Amino acid sequence: MRMTVIGTGYLGAVHAACMADIGHDVLGVDIDAEKITALAEGRPPFYEPGFEEVLTRALASGRLRFTTGLREAAAHGEVHFICVGTPQQAGSGAADLRYVDAVVDGLAPHLAASCLVVGKSTVPVGTTARLSARLMDLAPRGVRAEVAWNPEFLREGFAVEDTLRPDRLVVGATSREADETLRRVYAPMLAAGVPCISTDPNTAELVKVAANSFLATKISFINAMAEVCDAAGADVVTLADALGHDTRIGRRFLNAGVGFGGGCLPKDIRAFAARARELGAGPAVAFLDQVDEINRRQRIRTVALTRRLLGGDLTGRRVAVLGATFKPDSDDVRDSPALDVATALDRQGAVVRVHDPEGAGNARLAHPELHCGSDLMTSCRDAEILLHLTEWGQYREVDPVKLARVVRTPILVDGRNALAHDAWRAAGWTVEALGRPAPTARCADARVGRPLRATITSPAAEPDRAATAVGRL
Ligand code: UDX
Repeated sequence: MRMTVIGTGYLGAVHAACMADIGHDVLGVDIDAEKITALAEGRPPFYEPGFEEVLTRALASGRLRFTTGLREAAAHGEVHFICVGTPQQAGSGAADLRYVDAVVDGLAPHLAASCLVVGKSTVPVGTTARLSARLMDLAPRGVRAEVAWNPEFLREGFAVEDTLRPDRLVVGATSREADETLRRVYAPMLAAGVPCISTDPNTAELVKVAANSFLATKISFINAMAEVCDAAGADVVTLADALGHDTRIGRRFLNAGVGFGGGCLPKDIRAFAARARELGAGPAVAFLDQVDEINRRQRIRTVALTRRLLGGDLTGRRVAVLGATFKPDSDDVRDSPALDVATALDRQGAVVRVHDPEGAGNARLAHPELHCGSDLMTSCRDAEILLHLTEWGQYREVDPVKLARVVRTPILVDGRNALAHDAWRAAGWTVEALGRPAPTARCADARVGRPLRATITSPAAEPDRAATAVGRL
């Protein structure tokens, strides 16, 4: 099928290459000429495992081309996928839909034949209906153009896998014809047994924000438990393991630590809450404000823990931060908890060095004030404390004995609860993590029946500092 993919970021570029890979004739479109040139030459503009291979294969097949022109796009596609960003509006939690609207406005006047416009971006419920009216208004008379919604659930780091072998497909269309068109697009996936849910556009739009809200809630739930564990001298990782064995709960997305970030979860829950308020359903999702608050608090608590471990004053103290991206296997630093903590420490006077295998370049662009590099030993040299904030696989391979010789003081904060604490302790490191008691405290608790370990000061108990930190973060 002849299709266009408009917006070639993490979502669109992968979607375009994968659609060509399964046999469609695809035109990728973006206003960023540099990005389009790179993609057309087979150079991924971002780091995503497996993407370069699919891109190269798709370009070689002759079924994938790129352009910056919406006129060309209008002429090419029987299906147009909208994959542009829907960032958070400045000064509010609501989604900024200007890029989505601009696609419809730019495409509509050039349409010469009937087509289907399919949104994949995450949008507030009701967007399909609004865009349908807009498209009908702007398209030339006699052209039948319909809008449907087909949300994307891909995870960065697994984008190719999630696009070619999704858990499920969701199609939100108002006509049977549109539904059938999308089923033809995804025919190879459907033949492989991927479940496909056909529904109305409002439900389809809601599936995406509901899914991300659920995932965010699960993470914040376990991080809330980490706070309780800190107060009680209990261990959140053992708690999560034990909870996870209950198949109704499951162990995935119960990793406590510095919390969630990225271009999706934080802004999606805020946009969902804002839209629900507009619809008069604000109280139904008021818990999302708490989810967001718990998540922000993990960053503040990580800064507070670092400050405490360094004796209460960060001025001039050398901190090494492992990880800049919001998650491993990505170079995306949008709303990254690791970078947020690094910048907060920097503002409080610490000398911060950030290491990331793939995200150092983006981190430097976002925060020129930070030292960011991709050589681990250089970043850790003479550090007085090491913060593990993004769980890249290579950090689990590090030899703690060797690293202890490079740093000035062997203190580790495992902000992702992903390192082998016993091995690090055996190598002479003091290891601390949110929601984890020090081993001695655990024994002592059993003896005297009360937690001996100093709990990490919560923002509620330290209002001034918390208020400053929230403002800064
Ligand atoms: C997410 C959704 O998973 C995906 O379905 C949607 O389409 C887009 O948003 P992504 O942003 O790639 O995908 O990241 P995800 O893997 O969901 O992780 C989000 C954040 O949560 C990361 O910062 C990650 O480190 C954090 N996280 C995840 C935790 O803190 N604990 C966990 O247990 C899991």
